[in-house]
Amino acid sequence: MSILALNNIYKNYGKDNNEVKALRSIDFQVEKGELIAIMGPSGCGKSTLLNILGCIDSPSKGEYFIDGNLIDFRKINSLSEIRNMKISFIFQNFALIKELTVLENVMLPLKFRSMKYKDKLNAAKKYLAELDILELEKKYVDELSGGQQQRVAIARALTQETEIILADEPTGALDEENNIKIMKILRELNEKHGKTIIIVTHNSFVAGYCKRILHMKDGEWVKD
Ligand SMILES: Nc1ncnc2c1ncn2[C@@H]1O[C@H](COP(=O)(O)OP(=O)(O)OP(=O)(O)O)[C@@H](O)[C@H]1O
Ligand SMILES: [Mg+2]
Repeated sequence: MSILALNNIYKNYGKDNNEVKALRSIDFQVEKGELIAIMGPSGCGKSTLLNILGCIDSPSKGEYFIDGNLIDFRKINSLSEIRNMKISFIFQNFALIKELTVLENVMLPLKFRSMKYKDKLNAAKKYLAELDILELEKKYVDELSGGQQQRVAIARALTQETEIILADEPTGALDEENNIKIMKILRELNEKHGKTIIIVTHNSFVAGYCKRILHMKDGEWVKD
């Protein structure tokens, strides 16, 4: 059984003359432990697809199964449970909270977990250290460079330690050295810890770390 499965997914934005068909008839099966790259031109629907996979947005039509269970996009509570416990998401625009420090941002997803505070703190610090930003822990997001913010967003997602990681352009703001670092971490999470990872990227170097590369155009898969 696939860990994630999309059946005939459509997503439309707007109405009438303003309607955008962002996804058309997308089928997608992901097996546990896959490391997948999704590539394609700007506006082709990559973020839309990833947002649906991450239960951040709902499809206009079609079915989505996680572990064989049909997702009901009307059940707000179960969607947030999935986003917290099952799937972590690295946002294209980072989605960090300005009023919180780096450490507070990274610990936020653990807030409602029944873990000891000390274990939450250790988990957050572990990933901040791995991403070389532990010394920024007390800073506010506004005080960071784009690349530093991106690493905070990645640390926050990894701290959730979920089975599935979805990453939307996770290295878009990073230099080559950090690109390599992030891809090594994601690859290790995939190979040693069996995490299922899907990465949207424009960067063929990043895609080169992945085991399956898919291409999208105009809201559809490009057949190879
Ligand atoms: N909230 C929205 N309202 C209306 N249209 C939207 C919305 N979000 C996305 N779109 C449109 O849907 C299409 C797909 O957008 P999407 O963000 O998925 O593209 P993308 O492949 O991620 O592009 P990029 O590489 O630039 O991030 C685009 O035409 C975009 O303008
Ligand atoms: Mg996008």
